[in-house]
Amino acid sequence: MSQPILIGNDHGAVELKNTIVSHLEKKGFEVRDLGVGEEEAVDYPDKAEELCRELLAGDYMFGILLCGTGIGISISANKMDGIRCALPQDIFAAEMSKLHNNANVIAFGGRIKYQDSVTDMVDKYMETEFEGGRHERRVGKIMDLEK
Ligand code: RB5
Repeated sequence: MSQPILIGNDHGAVELKNTIVSHLEKKGFEVRDLGVGEEEAVDYPDKAEELCRELLAGDYMFGILLCGTGIGISISANKMDGIRCALPQDIFAAEMSKLHNNANVIAFGGRIKYQDSVTDMVDKYMETEFEGGRHERRVGKIMDLEK
């Protein structure tokens, strides 16, 4: 059994959250939902903080964060020590976010019209392995910026 996946959202991405959760559950993954449901307005930095703290403390595969654009929640997540949150715009970027950046959180926007489906982007991220090598050094330099 693989580790669970964490997902968190604000009110700008409830439908997208439900789509992603049912997609992942259909594929047999366990998803822990820290997000909100319909009509429940929350501040996206609070959701980012909650998910990132849980991700760093627990045994999870990775995290998914969603807000209206994905921008506010990814900016917030990247303020947390140990988090590399990507905001992929298409399947290529989703692949690169793991291959080169070893992102441990990916973010999307519920109000964004993507050319590729978000579930395809999540799948691509999940099936890609971090390349390491020179990218290990570069990712290390990213993490050094937190010191
Ligand atoms: C909430 O209305 C909206 O600002 C939020 O979901 C997000 O788009 C922020 O970046």
